Amino acid sequence: MARYFYLILAAFCAAASSQFIPPYTEDCRTGMYPPNGPTFKGAVSWYTVNLDLPPKERWNGVIADKKTQLVTMIQAIRDLADAFVPGGKLIELVDVALPLMVDTLPYPFGDEIKGIATASGVPLGEVVLFNIFYEVFTVCTSVVAEDTKGNLVHGRNLDFGLFMGWDAKNKSWVVSELLKPLVVNVDFRRNNKTVFKSTNFAGYVGMLTGIKPNVFTLTMNERFSLDGGYIGILEWILGKRDEMWMSFLTRSVLENATSYEEAKFRLAQTKLLAPAYFILGGNATGQACIITRSRITSLDILEIDLKLGRWFVLETNYDHWKEPLFLDDRRTPAVKCMNATSQAKISMKTIYDVLSTKPVLNKLTTYTTLMQVSSGTLESYIRDCPSPCMPW
Ligand SMILES: *[C@@H]1O[C@H](CO)[C@@H](O)[C@H](O)[C@H]1NC(C)=O
Ligand SMILES: *[C@@H]1O[C@H](CO)[C@@H](O)[C@H](O)[C@H]1NC(C)=O
Ligand SMILES: *[C@@H]1O[C@H](CO)[C@@H](O)[C@H](O)[C@H]1NC(C)=O
Ligand SMILES: *[C@@H]1O[C@H](CO)[C@@H](O)[C@H](O)[C@H]1NC(C)=O
Repeated sequence: MARYFYLILAAFCAAASSQFIPPYTEDCRTGMYPPNGPTFKGAVSWYTVNLDLPPKERWNGVIADKKTQLVTMIQAIRDLADAFVPGGKLIELVDVALPLMVDTLPYPFGDEIKGIATASGVPLGEVVLFNIFYEVFTVCTSVVAEDTKGNLVHGRNLDFGLFMGWDAKNKSWVVSELLKPLVVNVDFRRNNKTVFKSTNFAGYVGMLTGIKPNVFTLTMNERFSLDGGYIGILEWILGKRDEMWMSFLTRSVLENATSYEEAKFRLAQTKLLAPAYFILGGNATGQACIITRSRITSLDILEIDLKLGRWFVLETNYDHWKEPLFLDDRRTPAVKCMNATSQAKISMKTIYDVLSTKPVLNKLTTYTTLMQVSSGTLESYIRDCPSPCMPW
């Protein structure tokens, strides 16, 4: 079982880390906000998850609304698995083996996943697979900028689904398209008070994008490495379980950390199943950083430094001290547009413009989220990138 699992994961990873065609670039966009035009597919709706409920019941409201879309998405993953190993063998394996894994996941994640399986009618193993996917295959752009008044604005594009089924008629990636209707904003409450808010995919219990109002904002981006995620996942399956799933750590930090410094410490020091970038913004001047993680520890923390003229930090999927893969350089165009915007003009509006410029916006971009810690605001928008647009 582990061998098959390793095989699919390795194949997807190899595919995801190589993009073959130079990016289609354009001039920095302006006037894109409020979101409008062909790159905007709709605002994301809000749900509440009550953390006082037992984990198995927390997601019932979200799943009641998104069940059909979740089933469609899982069916597409089944079809892809069938194309990869014909005869339904791979999904049989997922259905038999992955449910065994759910009880090894830390509290409350195993129970939340079981609750989602029950509420949606999707087999448990397939919900587990859906939750593992994002740990390994997400490419993104995240930026935190400080304006001249000391306000911090955090924006991100979430790009997902490269090589997951090309729809030649629509010129789109099947999985990216099917994810769009699953995007939800979630208000996590305890004692009827907001603890944190996130942009999520319905059915997924980890966090990729979130805000703890007035305290910090956090996004996670995939970091490709030879010592990649699938090795950690394989070790987990084989019984070595002293490492944390990345998006479970971000969730735990959003839920429990009470300051920027505490969040930074936990994100930098907790052992992880896979390498990652954490992009963290605080609530005071100078508090924003990119934490570059190996599985063991933090390799580097790059912080805003106004004295050095560094008023923003920006991360795609490459170590900031190295050149990005030249075929997948979203960093240079994004930095160019941040520079063109200037610190004096930074706002949710101008960050949305930067995140709307190709190839920062691309065919894999499912959503754009904008967060402002001082007002506790989180807004997110479903995106589209009509051709010509990278990749393909
Ligand atoms: C193709 O695009 C059209 C129009 O955007 C949409 O209605 C249709 O559902 C899409 N088909 C698939 C398979 O995504
Ligand atoms: C939660 O708070 C809202 C207003 O903030 C109120 O309308 C609602 O009744 C409260 N719910 C509970 C269960 O206390
Ligand atoms: C920033 O966060 C700290 C730690 O939680 C808190 O004590 C402080 O009041 C916050 N500052 C603002 C301006 O919200
Ligand atoms: C952005 O501005 C910084 C500081 O002036 C400069 O070092 C950097 O080369 C600029 N980058 C781009 C891509 O324009």
